[in-house]
Amino acid sequence: MSDKEQGLSRGLTNYGDRDFSVYLRNSFASSMGYSRDMLKRPIVGIANSFSGFNNCHRHFPELLDAVKRGVLMEGGLPIEFPTISLGEVFLSPTSLKFRNLMSMDTEEMVRAQPMDAVVLMGGCDKTVPAQLMGAASADLPAVQLVAGPMMTSRYQEERLGACTDCRRFWSKYRAKEVTTEQINDIEGRLATTSGTCAVMGTASTMACIAETLGMSLPGTAAIPAVHADRLRAGEESGRAAARMILNPIKPSQVMTEKSVENALRVLLALGGSTNAIIHLTAVARRLGIPVSLQKLNELSDTTPVLVNLKPVGSNYMEDFFFAGGVGAVLRELKPLLHLDTLSITGQTLGDRLEQDEGWVDRRVIAKASEPLEPQGGLVALFGNLAPRGAILKRSAADKTLFEKEGRAVVFTSLADLAARVDDPDLDITKDDFMVLQNAGPKSESGMPEAGYLPLPRKIAEQGVKDMVRISDARMSGTAFGTIVLHVAPEASVGGPLALVRNGDRIKLSVKERRIELLVDDAELESRRAEWVSDNVPPEQRRGYDRLYASEVMQADEGCDFAFLGPVD
Ligand code: FES
Repeated sequence: MSDKEQGLSRGLTNYGDRDFSVYLRNSFASSMGYSRDMLKRPIVGIANSFSGFNNCHRHFPELLDAVKRGVLMEGGLPIEFPTISLGEVFLSPTSLKFRNLMSMDTEEMVRAQPMDAVVLMGGCDKTVPAQLMGAASADLPAVQLVAGPMMTSRYQEERLGACTDCRRFWSKYRAKEVTTEQINDIEGRLATTSGTCAVMGTASTMACIAETLGMSLPGTAAIPAVHADRLRAGEESGRAAARMILNPIKPSQVMTEKSVENALRVLLALGGSTNAIIHLTAVARRLGIPVSLQKLNELSDTTPVLVNLKPVGSNYMEDFFFAGGVGAVLRELKPLLHLDTLSITGQTLGDRLEQDEGWVDRRVIAKASEPLEPQGGLVALFGNLAPRGAILKRSAADKTLFEKEGRAVVFTSLADLAARVDDPDLDITKDDFMVLQNAGPKSESGMPEAGYLPLPRKIAEQGVKDMVRISDARMSGTAFGTIVLHVAPEASVGGPLALVRNGDRIKLSVKERRIELLVDDAELESRRAEWVSDNVPPEQRRGYDRLYASEVMQADEGCDFAFLGPVD
């Protein structure tokens, strides 16, 4: 029996007799066929989010073998354990609702089970944020290993990748530019390999953020899921986790105010997903690091957009990998970054960038001196419609709509939107602002990616591609348009968005970072006095739904649960 608080002797079940606890645990572990020598080794846990309901993680069994190989090479004992998996399109009402549950599962299983370090295998949109949140709270040495992106496919002469092209073709279908037969063909060609969405959507953005934070190995974020380098990244991640047992580096040493700021810079330079702001805010909050939308704007003003990937540009993640990946972006941003941040390798970012040289495909990753856009891809808006802020992905929007006043056409819920958006009698023109209420975090819908409101069919059929759309919902990282999201406070808690009525005038000014409801204060006060919430109160719900309804915070706080922050 070992006396060291390591491996199987960590975190013993308490029977009031420590030696008995060790003896009993070793007996049961022996039943799994391990030799005594193996059971004396330090343990690397492997949090495996494989699931039959998660197409993006289809290759995890093979990747898991590679991780185990790496752990064994460094003298550790690899033990996998399952956690919840969140397959983006398989969850109702929306995957975000379960991100916090997965983070709690990850945190508690990392803490409760005997492991000295952990490899976190995630990829699909909410899984990496959940694992980083859990790792931050458990604060055990951890390596984030991502699934890697899907490869692209073909439809006739066109290259296709989920899921910007899914939306592009669906819009064409709605506008009758694509036939039913064609859309059925396209459906089978959009997602054809394992891995995460093939563009700079939320999964890819979070993978790049994890690498920038220092929680993933350098150069691993963009390796395609099916590339042999992905398996080598798995093996190396296993080795890195096992090495950290001798020289522990905790997530709290890696994810700091400075590395979070670096991650925000990279997010802006990527023209990355709006969802990543919510997730990075939630991850940072677990360590007591504030992320304010005002700070986002400051950084956005001085960070160029460098990466030409869909949905902002024209390329796919596999192009980004071959073009130089995150390392090439970091080198361009070097003068703007904190270089003394630490990664799980024990290297600082400055050390990495000293060594990290390589060929860069300038068709995909621009020089900072010749950027695609001089300012960052995301901007926060404030005003009487969004006192705590809203987000616009300006790099994926129609700039001719940036300084505009319009008439509000209001949909009071997603059900109302679905029922009326294609009504030929809907009173709407292309110059109106579409407003969706009651789709925020505390609403029944749980803040789905519904902020990309479909253009009314009669407008789409006129060839219109974009309109101003405003909501408290989110938008897929693969979507595009002049779409104001994450309005806080949300409508279903009585935020000003709830007070908007058909025919009101709204003013958008991206230049001034403003979104204003042009209704006088007295009128707004009288509407507020009449307002009643449609939400079912938490006490009339049960289980996780009840916990979520009572504890989830607003978008500007990362939609985490208040009680999951650090203890004062
Ligand atoms: Fe998994 Fe897009 S569905 S990353």
